[in-house]
Amino acid sequence: DLDIIKKDFTGKRVLLRVDFNVPVDDATGAVADASRINAVLPTIRALMRGGARVILASHFGRPEPKKQSRQEMESLYSLRPVAALLASQLGSAAFRGLARDCIGPEAEAAVSELQPGQALLLENTRFHGGDVANSPDFARQLAALCDVFVNDAFGVVHRDQGSVTGITSFVPECYPGPLIRRELTELADRLYDPVRPLGVVLGGAKVADKIGVVGALVEVADVVAVGGRMAFTLLAAAGVSVGSTQIEEDWLEPCRRMMTRAAQRGTRLLLPSDVCWSSSLSRPEQLDTSGVTPLTRDCCTPDRPCIPPGRYGVDIGPETMDTFRTELLACRTIFWNGPMGKFEVPEFASGTVSVARTLDEASRRGTITIIGGGDSVSAVTAAGLADHITHISTGGGASLELIEGRGMPGLRALRMNRRQRDGGGG
Ligand code: 3PG
Repeated sequence: DLDIIKKDFTGKRVLLRVDFNVPVDDATGAVADASRINAVLPTIRALMRGGARVILASHFGRPEPKKQSRQEMESLYSLRPVAALLASQLGSAAFRGLARDCIGPEAEAAVSELQPGQALLLENTRFHGGDVANSPDFARQLAALCDVFVNDAFGVVHRDQGSVTGITSFVPECYPGPLIRRELTELADRLYDPVRPLGVVLGGAKVADKIGVVGALVEVADVVAVGGRMAFTLLAAAGVSVGSTQIEEDWLEPCRRMMTRAAQRGTRLLLPSDVCWSSSLSRPEQLDTSGVTPLTRDCCTPDRPCIPPGRYGVDIGPETMDTFRTELLACRTIFWNGPMGKFEVPEFASGTVSVARTLDEASRRGTITIIGGGDSVSAVTAAGLADHITHISTGGGASLELIEGRGMPGLRALRMNRRQRDGGGG
């Protein structure tokens, strides 16, 4: 697999940026879905077989080093569960475990003990604010650990961060890894000039991140179906009362403009016409029976709000599931990112499972289906519906930005590094 890099890394310290931002089971503390890890294991194994000293670096979640103590961050965002899985996959002789930091004396000591053919994992790069802030000081310290940088973290190529872009200014030899190359071929081939109609299903909880993407997708897709938490901001913008569901007030006006634009362009922007709501988001045993309420502007009066105050929207309703299915089955390419509700609570997973089933059905009929994003991939894998999907991407936000046609800072940085190496300057 590594042949595409055509380099001999024997004895070299290779820092491999990976995306180990994977779901972890709260109850067991173990990795709940290893798709992202499995996707990059061939690269890790190839480097080890080739005699490299492999230093794995990844972010995990979104710790806040300015607000949280190191202890708090370690209790919530340590890569320990991933290290446990790697030990079982790579063998404890070859895998030297988790270094307690990603830069500084502890990281340096761990790296200095690595033998050719061995690998270690650095602790979460985001424990240092300099990663997200892309500070040169952080990037320089990370770069000091290695001779070669290989970026195989497709899920994070859309981030301009120290361990993705910054580091390439301080390591002379930087390369994209095989997973990044494969993802680009799969996604670019199918999404830059898609077989139409192109349907996009968007959901998930990273509301502030994604809601702007809906606007961009309205310009490129034929059908945009929105579920998950972000749908409630769009519904609120359309005049629906959403009870206590968290919405992004700042986005209400842009959402209205987006809906007008969709209507002008003829893009079918589908919002839920019914939803499930509940009195609690997190404790299923204490939940009221979930209600399904028709959500139309007409049904919302101060006496009869669509979702009552004190209740939260937790999933799309059955009518919406039917509409999404019918509209998506009429498409010839479907891209899906993000669950339709709080799918980690089984009672609220129906909408997400229904979209997974629709993509399975569409795939069997010959439609090109692409799923990106940790949660949607976990949902489809857990439901046993992954086999016929055309491409399961390791990138969530990254694959969305690719469809939008945005540049990828992580790839641009690798290109610049290559130009400099080839003597062409920046
Ligand atoms: C993802 O889960 O999409 C990637 O790991 C990127 O994570 P981020 O959105 O926190 O940068």
